[in-house]
Amino acid sequence: MVSKKILVLGGAGYIGSHVVCELLDKGYEVLVYDNMSTGQSENLFEKAGFIKADILDVDSLQKAMQGVDAVIFFAGKKAVGESMINPEMYAQNNLIGAVNVLNAMCANGVKNIIFSSSAAVYGIPQYVPLDENHPLNPINFYGFTKWEMERLLAWYDQLKGIKYAALRYFNAAGYDVQGRVRGREQNPQNLLPIIAEVADGKRKCLQIFGSDYDTPDGTCLRDYIHVNDLASAHVLALEALFAGRDSMTLNLGTGKGVSVKEIVASAEKFLGRKLPVEYAQRRPGDPAVLYAKADKAKELLGWEPKFVSVDEIVSSFLKKH
Ligand code: UD1
Repeated sequence: MVSKKILVLGGAGYIGSHVVCELLDKGYEVLVYDNMSTGQSENLFEKAGFIKADILDVDSLQKAMQGVDAVIFFAGKKAVGESMINPEMYAQNNLIGAVNVLNAMCANGVKNIIFSSSAAVYGIPQYVPLDENHPLNPINFYGFTKWEMERLLAWYDQLKGIKYAALRYFNAAGYDVQGRVRGREQNPQNLLPIIAEVADGKRKCLQIFGSDYDTPDGTCLRDYIHVNDLASAHVLALEALFAGRDSMTLNLGTGKGVSVKEIVASAEKFLGRKLPVEYAQRRPGDPAVLYAKADKAKELLGWEPKFVSVDEIVSSFLKKH
């Protein structure tokens, strides 16, 4: 069987590099395309090809598309706070970038795309667990760009026959359990990488944003999904599209809400010491509770997360390889 060629846009980033490992394991030919603005050179693997370029560079994108069977699209800006301060950058990178990608696919006859969407498309939950039919009402510009990108995909499916899987991640967490991914995000904004920096003494203290939420321990609940589980879902979605399945929009989560305090306690257990923590004001725009109903991914892809214990997720993040 001739191996299929997958173009991974943003393949040197956090989730992208884990998916590249999974694709290589499964025998796919992989071409990573990354502008290295946040991607890490340690995340480039010898067995995969690499092009250093931006998705705003239409000529490079056109060239990279040649002979490709499917695109996996991670090359997006993803910091919620930054998107509210600099929406121009998010519109440019995420929206114009998405149009460039889809147009380059059309020009080269590439018919399949796996797209990184986000739970941020839902906004403040009207109910939990959030299923895929929950109304979409993003409350930050980042979430808005993801929603618009989903709508672009739906139109390009209808008008140009491009089949897609839009995967709405909940809180991506953990690192490759086999230790293959070495690069660590710089200037992280999310809970677990911040904890890792506090553990390493790079930050003085972890601030817990809000301890008076209407939740069992007063801190926010999130659905932390292990990045290796996200990676396996991408490959299953890709195989489903190659098998001729219709486009799909799926939540990827564990279905379980875990509190900030539980994450901190698990980190302290792994490290064998207390972390410096202080309680701070609620962070604007943080819903108290957010977790997925992820049954559709199980039904359509047979996907189920394997690394569901908080300790497994947290320790895979903090372990030094
Ligand atoms: C957000 C987005 C999510 C996106 C992700 C990527 C929403 C609702 N969610 O997740 O879609 O994929 O960012 O960046 O927009 N916390 C602290 N102290 C810290 C940092 C975080 O207490 O220093 C708490 C937060 O209040 C939150 C939890 O930890 O309750 C997780 O926060 P974070 O890792 O930033 O992710 P989300 O905001 O949930």
